[in-house]
Amino acid sequence: MKDTDQELLEAARAVRERAYAPYSNFRVGAALRTKSGKIYTGCNVESASYGLTVCAERVAIWKAVSEGEKAFEEIAVVADTQELTPPCGVCRQIVWEFCQDIPVILGNLRGDHEIVRMSELLPRAFDTKFLK
Ligand code: THU
Repeated sequence: MKDTDQELLEAARAVRERAYAPYSNFRVGAALRTKSGKIYTGCNVESASYGLTVCAERVAIWKAVSEGEKAFEEIAVVADTQELTPPCGVCRQIVWEFCQDIPVILGNLRGDHEIVRMSELLPRAFDTKFLK
């Protein structure tokens, strides 16, 4: 794994500690690298009204987009599971919307990792091209 991949996984691992997940107790961290090399992180933030929960991946993307970022290189997602946790269906759609076919680094706390592409996670995606 490249040093930059390792750095992104570490950032996702660190921000996972800030997860607000008192209902599920399932803590997730995500880190998104822009094409200019900046890293934006996010953790899951839950609500007592469960459906309002926002996943770590979307928090990272909302933070980056709201700071004016438009071009993304790679995203890392970390959870404490033996089988590596992939992004949920909603997040796959949002990652595709803002990042298209980027590599997604999945990691856990034992140091396992795997790199998959968004097009493997969301084949035949619906996106803006169909709205033309
Ligand atoms: N969650 C994420 O933050 N990202 C994922 O990829 C999967 C699920 C969160 C949402 C919720 O707070 C908790 O994990 C359990 O579903």
